[in-house]
Amino acid sequence: MFLELPKLKFDPKEINEYMSEQTVSFHYGKHHQAYASKANELMKGTDYDTMSLEGVIKESNNNGDTALFNNAAQFYNHNIFWDIMSTESDKNITPEFEAIISKNFGSFEEFKAKFVDAGMTQFGSGWAWLVKNADGSLEVVKGANAYNPIIDGKTPLLGCDVWEHSYYLDYQNLRKTYIENFLNYLVNWKVIEKNFNE
Ligand SMILES: [Fe+2]
Repeated sequence: MFLELPKLKFDPKEINEYMSEQTVSFHYGKHHQAYASKANELMKGTDYDTMSLEGVIKESNNNGDTALFNNAAQFYNHNIFWDIMSTESDKNITPEFEAIISKNFGSFEEFKAKFVDAGMTQFGSGWAWLVKNADGSLEVVKGANAYNPIIDGKTPLLGCDVWEHSYYLDYQNLRKTYIENFLNYLVNWKVIEKNFNE
């Protein structure tokens, strides 16, 4: 399949307080686009061209096609990253979904602490994820570089990019503040809940 960047669902001006327009411009326009372009180039004329994106990620991982895996997984990861962001974040979790989070992690605050810790203890570049397991339970996981939980049979619901390109212009070395602001002010819980129920 030919990979094209989904349009952003928010106006970057409106999230400027927590993620600058400059960061969004580079991160979406340059980094995300580069992953799509490179994956398209690597898939062209191969069997991968006829697969779904999920199929490409799993197969390239199984086959040890590292360059394709890295670029296809990063394309997918960034699709999720932008898709689950909103300007309405701090007020849009439903009581039903908050109860599901609390049931899995003890409380919403405990979930947040666990997620921030995952992002903070990911040494170097990578991702922190909230995933849904096959049995319906929720879990926080992390992984290096282009790690995507689908290779472990988990469904990614919420992903936070902890590559420096995601926060360094705005937060410099303060990765923790970036992750906390992301969780508190940028996550669109309506989309996470929809992904959970699908
Ligand atoms: Fe990124």
